[in-house]
Amino acid sequence: MIFKDLLNDELASQLTKDTKGMGIQDTLRTIACRFQGEIAFSTSFGQEDQIITDMIFTADLPVMVFTLDTGRHFEETYKIMNQTLAKYNKKIKVCFPDKDQVEKLMTQKGPYSFYESIENRQECCHIRKVLPLRKILGQVSVWITGLRASQSDARNTTNRISYDAENKVIKYNPLIDWSIDQVNEYLKLNHIPYNVLHDRGFLSIGCAPCTRAVAHGENIRAGRWWWENNTSKECGLHQKD
Ligand code: ADX
Ligand code: SF4
Repeated sequence: MIFKDLLNDELASQLTKDTKGMGIQDTLRTIACRFQGEIAFSTSFGQEDQIITDMIFTADLPVMVFTLDTGRHFEETYKIMNQTLAKYNKKIKVCFPDKDQVEKLMTQKGPYSFYESIENRQECCHIRKVLPLRKILGQVSVWITGLRASQSDARNTTNRISYDAENKVIKYNPLIDWSIDQVNEYLKLNHIPYNVLHDRGFLSIGCAPCTRAVAHGENIRAGRWWWENNTSKECGLHQKD
């Protein structure tokens, strides 16, 4: 890889300056051209991700799009994945967790160990999400995500572009300052397909056994790991932001 060793906070600040005032699609294009062959976008097929997917695929940008299949997704998530593949006719790389680790986890602790303790939950997220993500990020220099600041207090201080020292990548969050209303409006205006669960109160969608719908007025992420109190409601993909 050409760029991996050149990444740091200064480069992230420079990219922030270089793309200031630029539209998202132009920023995506600029960064994709600069880091050609070393840029990836992670999608969970949530509403924010569908917008970024649309921007990448409709402009035919040279960005690798990938998803982490934990093996525990909702049926509806596979349906929107399928719809997305059909609409854009582009490849989305699917990353699975390590088979041996999942087998060991399920054999030793059963299929619902995550309900028993925070440690168990973090163990499952680590095996099914964090490790597969790290593997992919080891092969690229730029990571694009659908994070928004207003999703949670923890994400409120996240920058649009930063250097993620843990994963040694430049992290670009195009929708960081978007509101949920902006997201919904953009989806509607551009006829972008989205997960039907969003219309049933699932504002943030993760694995099926770990996500529930939220009531009106409840926090966007309240339905994630709903049985846990006072945790950061993060699985480890983004907790250092
Ligand atoms: S999580 O850390 O709690 O799971 P969240 O669901 O809010 O994250 O999604 C935030 C961003 O993380 C998404 O926009 C996407 O870029 C990435 N992401 C989350 N889950 C996945 C997944 N299963 N596959 C790929 N990317 C994901
Ligand atoms: Fe495991 Fe739940 Fe984390 Fe999915 S969200 S990886 S099922 S603990």
